[in-house]
Amino acid sequence: MKNTKQFHRDRRSALVAAMRDHTGGGVAIVPTAPEVTRNRDTLFPFRSDSYFHYLSGFPEPEAVVVVIAEGDAERHLLFCRARDEERETWDGFRYGPDAAREIFGFDETYPYAELDAKLRELAVDRPALYTPLGLFEPWDRRIVQLLNDVRAQVRTGVSAPDDLVDVRGILDAMRLVKDAHEIELMRRAGAISGAAHRRAMARTRPGWYEYQVEAELVHEFLRAGAQAVAYPSIVASGPNACVLHYRDNDREMSAGELLLIDAGCEFQGYASDITRTFPVSGKFTGPQQDIYELVLAAQDACLDVIKPGVDFHDYHKVADRVLAQGYLDLGLVKGTLDEVLEKDTFRRFSLHRAGHWLGMDVHDAGLYQVKGVPQKLVPGMVLTVEPGTYIRPADDVPEAWWNIGVRIEDDVLVTATGHENLTAATPKTVADIEAACTR
Ligand code: GLY
Ligand code: MN
Ligand code: MN
Repeated sequence: MKNTKQFHRDRRSALVAAMRDHTGGGVAIVPTAPEVTRNRDTLFPFRSDSYFHYLSGFPEPEAVVVVIAEGDAERHLLFCRARDEERETWDGFRYGPDAAREIFGFDETYPYAELDAKLRELAVDRPALYTPLGLFEPWDRRIVQLLNDVRAQVRTGVSAPDDLVDVRGILDAMRLVKDAHEIELMRRAGAISGAAHRRAMARTRPGWYEYQVEAELVHEFLRAGAQAVAYPSIVASGPNACVLHYRDNDREMSAGELLLIDAGCEFQGYASDITRTFPVSGKFTGPQQDIYELVLAAQDACLDVIKPGVDFHDYHKVADRVLAQGYLDLGLVKGTLDEVLEKDTFRRFSLHRAGHWLGMDVHDAGLYQVKGVPQKLVPGMVLTVEPGTYIRPADDVPEAWWNIGVRIEDDVLVTATGHENLTAATPKTVADIEAACTR
């Protein structure tokens, strides 16, 4: 396989090609995320901006990628912090421009302190300037200042870029189809998160608090080399399983309840996103198993349709049909299947769509339809498949179903011949889950 820096370089070259297509060339300027204060002199853990990371793999704050399409040639530049013995003694290692050029595969590198002055040279006489617009407010202002500074030089015979383009449109379309390096990282992320779910199944006990299970998940993520959670873990027991974005994770769990866990790690910038639902005491009750088997049947049916050439929306329709028929069979809704689907009455128990793109961001970049036409799946896309059923107490619902919330979520790569479930090793059938819940 190519080395990591070649993958990043190839992505920058693909950006150059897209800039040529759109505007006959230009300059792209892509900053990483700003550092954010948590309180006083403590910062939130730094995470690179996803677009910047995609183009560079460079992990430090205060860094900017510049890519220039110049005639038939292209230039790849990185601005990053200079080496600084004192700062490195306090805060840790910095690559510095010289090492960064070699290790990350750039043509030219410069100290971050020279960014504004250098951009005033690099941005002149370009047909277009591509940058993320509206992502970081201070960056927007910096770009406007840059354009004004370039315009102020017109009497020297230079001109400012004619077009200002939000580069995210191009990068979103590129990010939608993962390359081999990204797929490898997503496989690793999925494997680590699957192990964390197995650990949660094995250790959860009646009398534990939800946060104790959250700790088991984080333990496994970090132990296995993941850097962070990809999103705050949802550890939702009993009635909390019916709160879709439950966050408190502070309830004591009892025997007889279900525990819904939606948790995934981020591995080298890539997210995983897994949901499993299992009994706190290790054995499903009859009504819990009925709903579980229905959601599992919906998930299986969704997986069956995922292959190249189908519309993104197709598997959502499959989930709706299987769930709606199941609610009819269980007496949770009344009417015919067509009526229930037409009037959306089944949505009362199934409030969300059956999945989303997955990549560096948990709800990843990329359009779901383009100018009204649904995206067709192509090899390299990664999406989640996550049907669910959530039954809140209500007078018109038999009490046996109350507070049952089940979601089953896997991460799926579209391949040339169909799909690969990246998280298939996470227990999912009733038998496998009960076996994993060693009490
Ligand atoms: N964990 C967020 C989601 O499943 O979409
Ligand atoms: Mn999801
Ligand atoms: Mn999820």
